[in-house]
Amino acid sequence: MLAVYAAAIDRDDPLSGLRIDDRPDPEARDGWTTVTVKAASLNHHDLWSLRGVGLPEDRLPMILGCDAAGVDADGNEVIVHSVINDPSWHGDETLDPRRSLLSERFPGTFAERVAAPRWNLLPKPPELSFEQAACLPTAWLTAYRMLFTRGAIPPGATILVQGAAGGVATALTVLGAAAGIRVWVTGRSEEKRAQALELGADQAFEAGARLPERVDAVMDTTGQATWAHSIRSLKPGGKIVISGATTGDAPPADLTRIFFLQLSVIGSTMGTRDELARLIRLCVDKGVRPAISATLPLAEAREGFAAMLRGDTAGKIVFTHP
Ligand SMILES: NC(=O)c1ccc[n+]([C@@H]2O[C@H](COP(=O)([O-])OP(=O)(O)OC[C@H]3O[C@@H](n4cnc5c(N)ncnc54)[C@H](OP(=O)(O)O)[C@@H]3O)[C@@H](O)[C@H]2O)c1
Repeated sequence: MLAVYAAAIDRDDPLSGLRIDDRPDPEARDGWTTVTVKAASLNHHDLWSLRGVGLPEDRLPMILGCDAAGVDADGNEVIVHSVINDPSWHGDETLDPRRSLLSERFPGTFAERVAAPRWNLLPKPPELSFEQAACLPTAWLTAYRMLFTRGAIPPGATILVQGAAGGVATALTVLGAAAGIRVWVTGRSEEKRAQALELGADQAFEAGARLPERVDAVMDTTGQATWAHSIRSLKPGGKIVISGATTGDAPPADLTRIFFLQLSVIGSTMGTRDELARLIRLCVDKGVRPAISATLPLAEAREGFAAMLRGDTAGKIVFTHP
């Protein structure tokens, strides 16, 4: 079957290890089933994998892709929850120390077929297209958990989203606005800031800009490039919710400011199957839809990877099967 996979790791030139070619069908394990993929969306995670973060060389070649929507062996339209747990694990899936995402230990979703535990399949509602549904399991689920579970942000609060056009950033903006949260964003270009306003942000600022007032919470996936600005932007008692460190993870921690202003630093990773079910219902009931910046046939996936590497995104990049 046609698949997009990592054949080699290169920290500095991630696309050099990317291949689009035939791979064997995924293995059927006990309690697992196979899904025919209709759409799969690209995440920064796929670039990290090609750089060797979370994907050691001894697991290569590895089919990339965390997110998929497709049709299961019984003909049902499904969305695939990407967090794969150890079979003995009970409770919040994201806390299982032996969890992995599709494409870390088991072949990912950038292929004609993907295998997953039956428990990980959720019904795809007819209101969502396969392309829209394929955006939800990683970036959108992560944004949902950051805002509503880990951040517990109430309606009417003001949040700052660092980054305007990324997959998680656009999800934070759309979901935050839908929940009655006042969303401010920073974006690195005029075009990205304008798009954030169209998606529901109340205000959009240049990266690092002084804000009109301090905010209740900051949502940050960027790391080193924005950490100092995030910490400076918080009200006393405010919180920063982080789920990524795209630009590196070694900024000065600003410890004095954190304890003196009694700030909370909260980590957040992916989400549970229950949270994904609630996110899907929210999308259906409230008409919320993922922002998609490009839809490409799987065979042209390299173009999508290159756009993400350049930072040339305006929401999610989705791969489809003709
Ligand atoms: N913990 C988890 O479970 C989890 C889940 C999903 C994602 N993540 C992580 O979160 C990060 C974002 O993922 P994604 O899929 O949303 O990636 P993406 O679509 O490539 O978005 C990248 C985002 O980072 C911002 N950015 C990049 N470089 C920047 C810089 N130098 N200065 C300021 N902003 C910068 C961009 O802002 P502009 O809009 O201004 O370009 C954009 O919003 C990745 O590191 C990913 O691994 C973690």
